[in-house]
Amino acid sequence: MTTVITFGTFDLFHIGHLNILNRASELGQHLVVGVSSDKLNAHKKGRLPLYPQTDRMKIIQSLKCVDTVFLEESLALKTDYILRYSADILVMGSDWQGRFDHFSSLCQVIYFPRTPSVSTTAIVETIKGT
Ligand code: CTP
Repeated sequence: MTTVITFGTFDLFHIGHLNILNRASELGQHLVVGVSSDKLNAHKKGRLPLYPQTDRMKIIQSLKCVDTVFLEESLALKTDYILRYSADILVMGSDWQGRFDHFSSLCQVIYFPRTPSVSTTAIVETIKGT
């Protein structure tokens, strides 16, 4: 069985999120998704996600292509998560190109091109501007 792991905030769930999760799931038989915690986002992006972590996790867990969801509480624990779930492949979007290459001693690292023209930040900016 090939296990695939990916990480993200997945706030204001949109088509770019669905596309990468579907593509990641097609690489194996088991897709594990680390949903980053509210606290981690506040630290990383300087603001809290609009949807709380429990809601973001529920949405991701409800997708047909997703098998396991966990809360990503620290960026420093990526190695632990990869080992804990025995991941064979790590998938990230191309905005992370090159930044996860050091995990290639643990698993295969694959970057998929981002879905063009959509992001949580852009959605928030559009709504704010109206
Ligand atoms: N992603 C993607 N295509 C998009 C947006 C996101 O493939 N148009 C991927 C990212 O590369 C990442 C995952 O979806 O692997 C989760 O991304 P996340 O940061 O939660 O979503 P964004 O919309 O990029 O959020 P933000 O604008 O806050 O950075």
